[in-house]
Parts: sequence; structure tokens; C-alpha cells
Amino acid sequence: MAIALRRRTLLRLIFLGGLVFLVRSFFSSSSSASSVTDPTEIQKQGVLDLVKRGEKALDARKYKFLQARLGRDDREDLFSDVIKDGYMDYWDRFQKPYMTGHETSHMDAQSVLSAIEQLLTLNGWVAALCPTLTRPFSQNKYEEAHEDLVKQNHLYYVGMVIHSADHFLIDQLAVIVQLAKRFGTSNLFVSMLDYDSSDSTETLTDLCEAVLTLLGVPFRIRRVPGMTFDPAAAYYPLEEAHARNLALEPLHELYEKRNIKFHRVIWLKGFTCPNDILETIKISVSNEAAMVCGMDWAEHNGFFIFSDRWRTRDINGDQFRQSKSSSLSDSSLISVPPRDVEAAKRYAQHLPFQVFCCESGTHVVDPAQSYYAGISYRAGDDFHNATLPKDVNIRPPDAKCLDSTQAWFCRDLWVAKAREGMKDLEQEPDLSEVPQMKKREPEPIPQAAEGGGGGGKPAAAPGGPIAFRKPQNNRKIDADANAGSDYDASDLPQNDDVPSSPDDDEDQQQTKLTIPNSVFLPARILVNPRCVTTYAGVSHTQLALDLFGPPDREDRDDEIKKKDVLEDWEGAPNSFVCQEQQTTGGRRAPKNQRRLGFSIHQELEERESLAI
Ligand SMILES: *[C@@H]1O[C@H](CO)[C@@H](O)[C@H](O)[C@H]1NC(C)=O
Repeated sequence: MAIALRRRTLLRLIFLGGLVFLVRSFFSSSSSASSVTDPTEIQKQGVLDLVKRGEKALDARKYKFLQARLGRDDREDLFSDVIKDGYMDYWDRFQKPYMTGHETSHMDAQSVLSAIEQLLTLNGWVAALCPTLTRPFSQNKYEEAHEDLVKQNHLYYVGMVIHSADHFLIDQLAVIVQLAKRFGTSNLFVSMLDYDSSDSTETLTDLCEAVLTLLGVPFRIRRVPGMTFDPAAAYYPLEEAHARNLALEPLHELYEKRNIKFHRVIWLKGFTCPNDILETIKISVSNEAAMVCGMDWAEHNGFFIFSDRWRTRDINGDQFRQSKSSSLSDSSLISVPPRDVEAAKRYAQHLPFQVFCCESGTHVVDPAQSYYAGISYRAGDDFHNATLPKDVNIRPPDAKCLDSTQAWFCRDLWVAKAREGMKDLEQEPDLSEVPQMKKREPEPIPQAAEGGGGGGKPAAAPGGPIAFRKPQNNRKIDADANAGSDYDASDLPQNDDVPSSPDDDEDQQQTKLTIPNSVFLPARILVNPRCVTTYAGVSHTQLALDLFGPPDREDRDDEIKKKDVLEDWEGAPNSFVCQEQQTTGGRRAPKNQRRLGFSIHQELEERESLAI
């Protein structure tokens, strides 16, 4: 029954898709003669555009270039002619006369409208279940909160990088349609990047194109070849960075050419319920966060485990635990994903908590604090290219971490925020020569560090009481914190070298630090545990129950919401668990692990000397 239904939905979609292609090819062949410019290129704002204030900036029906398809494989094959003849015949004999005929044209318009209406109810296969899932507070409360958001009439940018992941695509499309329905079809821009997929992603992106075209949602769907021909020569973090930057190209073009600024960028990964995404946007706005991530859970031997451990670090720089979704049933909190005590407490209350870095499936980024401020995705470049003969790569122990592009992005967010804080203070006299501290209330200087180790000497600097601030939560030694085995790092060699304990490293770092991280303005990176990202095959109902318990605990609603806004923001950790891919070899290339110092001051100085 369910399968029959799916098949019917799919058939209907494919039929609609075909229809749209007919219409498009019909129009494009008649109009291409008159226009010289590339119809897929975003056009510069003309004088006329400036005059027409108050109109929708992202009106895809008016500006054809807002719906572009790049890099589609349009090569002719054996059957191209046969197929083309077939649909032209259908078009000429049945569609066109019906559309243009006097008696039938209004019916045709009607059927297009009802098709659109039907498409707007597109709920996917997993998404359809979302409203039935348990959440820590009731669904009506969600709805209310979202109405506020929708009223503000902001623009949102949906970014997706698809690399042979066709099994999510229909549901992701459903989520986009649901978002378009709430925000309005011209308050959204969808950027899909197909990075060298070899499955049916190409066909399904055709389908996405058809649906988005009919709905009038602006998009750019683009397919690009892989960076290297030989997978063994590919360096995964570099590929990640490349793909994401390409997916962001329309964001920059729309700003440069048409002065369109987006309020938030939503990176869709895996599968996330539409309401959870709205929630995360809300948390992003109320906290003025640079980034808010969900949490992603993968099915593993009948359990769900927190899975994106490669890119996630708690505010102490530690890796998350590979916890089960049911870990909350243990009230001691020693088995929940974040190791940091404060975060663990907030996790237990389903509240957003601060981290050093996260990605975890779907995440929301504030472009004003990142992309518009000049941050793009990058990766280390001194990796070992395993396909080259004898390219021995000896790296110093404090060489930059060769980890994921997201980890680089997070560090860039910290540094950018620190620099922003310095700029604010630079206006004041006398402080301009010294690297500045953030405007935080003076904190007591913890002289006696517990355990005799980590505290170190307070660094003194002219111009103000710069003090090393111990994180408020007690940093306990967690023997497991450094011993990585990870879903993403399952190829990690066990015990080949034992990373030194975090405290030793901190001591080392202290001597090098001129200005501690804690005095700089902290980046606001949060994880929202209420935003769940899952993968195909996951039984959502069980997962939701594991995470949030039985539904409808209305009494907790207001209590929870008030605490969604973080009051205290920690500075960056002095060191973090660096899990790096030192060699090429694609996504599954082996990872090594070490603990590496992180000094914002040093980063700032380096960048200054490089003038970036
Ligand atoms: C590694 O070397 C090969 C051969 O020169 C080259 O084609 C490839 O692009 C290199 N890989 C990377 C990630 O630079």
C-alpha cells in the first residue's frame, strides 16, 4: 500500500516534471533569439530594478535567471531522437492545442494551479511523519513561534551538496517545499550542488528543477565533476571546501549584482523535519549565533548513535561521545554526547549549548558573521599526496590541523569574531596598539589552579587587566576524551601513538600564549539538540521517543523557551582534539589524532603578517 502510494507520487512528479520541461523548452526556444545574455547568469541590477522598490527581489517568475541549471549532462544518446520525437508529438497534438484553445485554456490554467497546490502538500516519505514525532514541547507552540519568524519576511538561502545521496533527495525536496510554503516561495533561494554523483541524483535533480520551477522558487542546480579523476588522488577536506564554496556562489552573486542579502543560510544534510529547522533558525536569531547545528543520529546495530564526531568539538575542544540516543536515561550524564559539564546539563534539558565547533547534519549559518564578512570554506594544503612517488611529508608537531573544512570554518569564525571585537574597541583611545580584549565584565583571576596544573600565570598586558579566565565549568580529566574511535574515523589506527593528556598540553600552551583566548569576544556556535538529523532507514518514532520522552509535556514549554538564550559565552579552548586526514584517498582516508593548541592571538598575528 505504502509502496503503491510512493510509486504513484513519484509517477505523478515525473509526469509533472515532463510537463515543465515541455513548457520550458517551448518558451526558451522562442525567446532565446531575442536575448543575447546567458539566461542562467544572474543579471546586474538595472535602473528599472532600482525604481521598482517594494517588489519581491527574488521573484523567479519575473527574473528568469533566478532559476538556473548548470552543468547538466545534455549529451545526445542513442534514444535522444526517439524520446524527443515522442514528447514533441505529445506536445503538438495534445498539450499545446489544449493550452491555447479558446475553450480549454482556462481549464489548463486551472490544472496548473491545482498541480501547484498539490505540490505544496508534497511531504515526502519521512517528512510526512514529522508532525507525529514527539518533541520536548508541543507542536502548537512550535507553530506560534514560527509565525513570528514568518512575519519578519526575511530571505533564506538553502544550500545543499549532494554526493551520491539520492535516497535523501525527495525528502529534502519535500522539506524545501514545506519551507517555501511557510516563508513564501520568493523568500527562499535553493542552491543544489551535485558533486560528481554516480547514482540517480541527476534524474532526481531534474525532478527538483521541475517542482521548483512550477512553484516559482528561485534556484540554481549545478552539477560539477570531481576535483580529481582518480579517487585515490582526492583530498576530502579540499573537496568539501570546493563543493560548499560553489554552492555559495549564487549567494555572493546575488549580493554583488543585485544587492540581495540573506538573513540565514540553511545547509541541508541528511534528513531533518521542517519544524526543527524553523526552530533552529529561531534559536540562531535569538542568540545572534554565527552557527547553530542540529545533532545527527545514525542507526547502528538497532541503536541510534550520535554520528558526526569528526567535526564536532565541545567548548573545551573535546570530541563528543559516540552516545546512544537513549543516553539520557542515565541521570549521571556521563554518557551524553557533549563531555563538557555545562553542555551536558543543557543537553539533558533539551536546551541549546555552546560548542567550539559543530556541523551535525542540518545547520544554520548567519551569513553576516561569516560569508558576507569574507569567510569561505578552506582546508589545509600540506597533506601528503599518496599518488605521487616518494613525497615524504614531515610536518612539525604544531603544524596546522588537517581536519574537515567545517573545522577550519569554525576556527575562522572564532578568529573573525575576535577581530570584530577588536575593531569595536579600536575606536577608544590608548588601547589601539595592543591587541584588544573583549568587553566582558572583569572576572576574578583564578590564581590557584586546581590540580596544580592548568591555570598557569595570568598574562599581563598593558592597557587592561587581561586575565586568564578558567572556564566556569570544572574541566575534569576524561580519559576517554582523547581516545578516538569515530564513525567518521573508524579507520583510525588504534594505539599507535597515545596523545598526551589535555592538561600537559595546556601547560605547554600557556607558555606560548601571549593573550589567552578567553579575553577575546567569543564566537557564538551552538548545538540545538532538539533539531534531529537522521538518515534513511531510521525509525524516527523510536529515536524521537529516546531523545525526548513521551509527548506533550506542555508545562515545560515556557520554562524551556526562556532558557534558549545563552547568557554566558565561553572563550575558545586553548587546545582541541585534532583529527586529521594527512593523506589523499577520499573520504575514508585514514585519520590521525593529536591534541593541538589553539591561540586566537597567534592566528590573528599570522593573518596580519600574511595580510589576509
Ligand atoms: C595528487 O597528485 C595527482 C597527480 O599529480 C594529481 O592529479 C592530484 O590532483 C593530486 N591531488 C590533490 C588533492 O592535489
